[in-house]
Amino acid sequence: MGAPLVSIVMGSSSDWEIMQQAARQLQDFGVTYDARVISAHRSPDLLDDYIGEMAAQGVQCFIAGAGGAAHLAGVIASKTMLPVLGVPVPSKYLKGMDSLLSIVQMPKGIPVATFAIGEAGAANAVLFAVSMLALNDAGLAQKLADYRKKQAETIAATTLPAPG
Ligand code: RP5
Repeated sequence: MGAPLVSIVMGSSSDWEIMQQAARQLQDFGVTYDARVISAHRSPDLLDDYIGEMAAQGVQCFIAGAGGAAHLAGVIASKTMLPVLGVPVPSKYLKGMDSLLSIVQMPKGIPVATFAIGEAGAANAVLFAVSMLALNDAGLAQKLADYRKKQAETIAATTLPAPG
């Protein structure tokens, strides 16, 4: 694997169950990535160093997954001008509504692109990242077109069982 084009950061190893969807999908598209657990509140200095390190290696965007008072994506966005894609991870008590609102309600000035709660958000964050990278990569644009074509074909081929 070459230098990472995408960085996946999550606040806790407990987020990996969701965020591994993102890692898997990046692998499927052949996009190099780095995946790390770094907490904005438990290890803020490490986060600072990591963002600089990733930027120096040529990362094009960050996908940040966090749950609860999910400030990770916003903190990353405050420290880099690279696009930050936020994935709200489902939380135990509020089912990810807390994560969603924490990520989507960024005050004016520092944006975070926010995706759906859970696996769909992790997958769509990757598809969005791939769209951005595909602007300058014709091979990747073709892979994305193929992905969409296959998806449409799967739907077109879907038949329903007779009603019971
Ligand atoms: C957030 O707190 C993490 O992103 C995680 O979703 C949540 C719970 O973390 P753990 O208590 O499981 O480490 O920082």
